[in-house]
Amino acid sequence: MTSGITGIGEELIVEPGGALRGRLRVPGDKSISHRAVMFGALADGVTEIRDCLLGEDVRATIAAFRAMGVRIEEFEDGRLIRVHGAGQGGLVPPADALDLGNSGTSIRLITGILAGAGIAATLTGDASLRRRPMKRVTEPLARMGARLATAPNGTPPLVLHPGAPLHGIEFPMSVASAQVKSAVLLAGLNASGRTCVIEPAPTRDHTERMLRGFGVRVDVDGLRVCLDGGQRLRGTSITVPADLSSAAFLIVGASIAPGSDVLLESVGVNPTRTGVLDILERMGASIERSNERDVGGEPVADLRVRAAPLHGIDVPRELVPLAIDEFPILFVAAACADGVTRVRGADELRHKESDRIATMAAGLAAAGIELETFDDGVEITGGRLGGATIESHGDHRIAMSFAISALRAAQPMRITGASTIATSFPSFVDLARGAGLGL
Ligand code: S3P
Repeated sequence: MTSGITGIGEELIVEPGGALRGRLRVPGDKSISHRAVMFGALADGVTEIRDCLLGEDVRATIAAFRAMGVRIEEFEDGRLIRVHGAGQGGLVPPADALDLGNSGTSIRLITGILAGAGIAATLTGDASLRRRPMKRVTEPLARMGARLATAPNGTPPLVLHPGAPLHGIEFPMSVASAQVKSAVLLAGLNASGRTCVIEPAPTRDHTERMLRGFGVRVDVDGLRVCLDGGQRLRGTSITVPADLSSAAFLIVGASIAPGSDVLLESVGVNPTRTGVLDILERMGASIERSNERDVGGEPVADLRVRAAPLHGIDVPRELVPLAIDEFPILFVAAACADGVTRVRGADELRHKESDRIATMAAGLAAAGIELETFDDGVEITGGRLGGATIESHGDHRIAMSFAISALRAAQPMRITGASTIATSFPSFVDLARGAGLGL
């Protein structure tokens, strides 16, 4: 979309070999940045956000709320964002369809917010977003009394009609999805009575933590999360930790490239996100945490990662939702490990920005790696990576995974459709080049 701004062109050629070294700070956490903008927009008063990610996904969220009358200012080259909250009932219906670009988090959470607020809107996005399943959100919202429709195959565009006020529900979720959990809870804020979601497995809990920071009472009992409708949000100040999902590319890069030694500063290590660290440590990675602290209700640490020989493992199923966005780069780790890595119970990977089982398998196979795919996972046998031409399929994490794989490839990796990297990590090319990637 805005590759000119970020300087990431459509094609990246990454020279093989090298090592990663240095002290690095990756951009702010995407999930937390989205929520900070959204909750700030709903709150009474001003919310200040430090180190907000300004990738294309969060920019889509910012643009959506601006289109609904919320004043959002940027200072200090974007390092400080000020959101002038509209307060409960203060959003105005957007004049045009809201285009949420590539962002699943934006479309699903905003659908919950607008259903609760009774705002008429059409929500859509790019070709990748228009293929993603939305019934998982529209069905529980309809049970709460919302009037909304998807395209016939359950995908965007979503059309919301104002109707009667919503009522709280008790909702046992069938997929482990923080976006679904969050959409229902956000609608519940404006519903009568109590709204409860019951998760099948733990998923990222940034919504629950941040709503408390905005003064909302959220009750969590194991996998059950409840809140009462009618609570108002109070503007606050938020510092966004560095995104572990972005750090993961450098963590795997440093692990697989001999001679690497990196220190990643102020990375979010919320236990609902650290599956990637657990999986890599089981594979033999050397990851040291230091300077552990709490930043605005989120745990943060510095991570030192040194190269280490990795070995294949069976990834425990309970770690899958806790590492869901990191499987593309974990598959690269598996391709560089000794022996076989097995991932099962990960069918959600088929519903991300691309079908990540299929896109990663095709790319790794093109680079000469032996693997077998299943509906819900993959078995990868570690081997020697050749060079390959990889199409991103509009998926930022596919592009970055194969860029990092060049550290262990015999020939250059050519990535097409690379500008999608700006979705979540606009400084990836500069940062990775500075650390030693052959870009
Ligand atoms: C996210 C939740 C996850 C994740 C996505 C961000 C969020 O999606 O894959 O990148 O911010 O809530 P699901 O909720 O669909 O698992």
